[in-house]
Amino acid sequence: MLRGRNRSLVRARNLRAALPALEFFAGSGLAAEAMKPFFRAVWANDICEKKAATYRANHPREVLRVGGIEQVRGGDLPDAALAWASFPCQDLSLAGNLGGIDSPRSGLVWQWLRVLDEMHHRPPVVVAENVLGLVSAAGGANYRDVHEAIAARGYRVGAVLLDAVRFVPQSRPRVFVIGVDERVRADELECESPLWCHPEAIRRAADRVHRFVWWNLPEPRSMTSALSDIIDHSAPTDPEPKARHNLSLIPPGHRARMLKAVNGKPTAFPGYKRTRSGRQVLELRFDDIAGCLRTPRGGSSRQALVLYRQGRFSTRLLTVREAARLMGVRDSYRIVGAYNDGYKAMGDAVAVPVVRHLTRFLLAPLAKRAARLRA
Ligand SMILES: C[S@@+](CC[C@H](N)C(=O)[O-])C[C@H]1O[C@@H](n2cnc3c(N)ncnc32)[C@H](O)[C@@H]1O
Repeated sequence: MLRGRNRSLVRARNLRAALPALEFFAGSGLAAEAMKPFFRAVWANDICEKKAATYRANHPREVLRVGGIEQVRGGDLPDAALAWASFPCQDLSLAGNLGGIDSPRSGLVWQWLRVLDEMHHRPPVVVAENVLGLVSAAGGANYRDVHEAIAARGYRVGAVLLDAVRFVPQSRPRVFVIGVDERVRADELECESPLWCHPEAIRRAADRVHRFVWWNLPEPRSMTSALSDIIDHSAPTDPEPKARHNLSLIPPGHRARMLKAVNGKPTAFPGYKRTRSGRQVLELRFDDIAGCLRTPRGGSSRQALVLYRQGRFSTRLLTVREAARLMGVRDSYRIVGAYNDGYKAMGDAVAVPVVRHLTRFLLAPLAKRAARLRA
């Protein structure tokens, strides 16, 4: 174990070795968190003041500029080895309006590319992250437009689909589009044909573009924790009448499965309230995995828990800390603000271990090769 001065020395050395990165749509800073110690954010931007409070509580304050990307001028940005963009998903997700890649919110990806165009040197590695709809909606046309636009700027481009459930007990598939300066040679980081991270949706999208790079990523070991491992048993549960009401919303088939599953042991069942045939129901999962965290816009988009302990059932919402654990965030990461602010910050974010895996095995090796090219 490293202590005191030794730990500070190691941190200082890591910081010096870390390559500079730009973080667009930085939110609460989970991409920056995940990319340490390979990259250090030297500039970040997000429009949301509330998320900025969390970003600043965990990363150097001076790095983050709060404001619309529309106002960012690329010529003012420092040179960097990588640019990360988790651009808004509302127009690409089934929960949103599927308006597409030219709609006002998801269309901010074009602002990102405009800023990169204005830089003195474009970063040699670029990453755009979004929901599955980026490749699956509109017959792949959204993906094609983003892919070709990055490729037209001198990058070799491919996408991978990574589900957070490979690392944490949350189902959260996300698409990562990765481009590298076409002069960088990285043959062993590519492969001839699709891998585990290129499921059908990615393969179909790849068929629609000119040149698609099949990035070579090692398959992670299987997930090591279950939802029941991250539950905070000291969190207050709903008052009795509310719990009774929530339990009454569970459809009969789910109730039967729940009663069968408890079998006398403490158990947690996550679920969302939905409207089915005009009636509100609370639908549960039984695999000890949480459903995808979403941005809360009302009671129904926050994930509920039905808990069974000492012979009785109770209900409550997931706590912010539980939501953070489902994103693979360490417990010492400070999440600032009221319940909805913290829950939203986590529901909008990228899962830390997913980005860490991608960084360690692909982004950092690519950026190091690119740095040698420039030296
Ligand atoms: C999918 S979230 C990214 C979250 C981030 N990766 C994280 O880990 O917290 C998209 C982000 O885009 C930001 N955003 C929306 N419109 C913006 C704009 N016009 N300029 C800059 N940021 C914007 C939102 O505040 C939100 O944090």
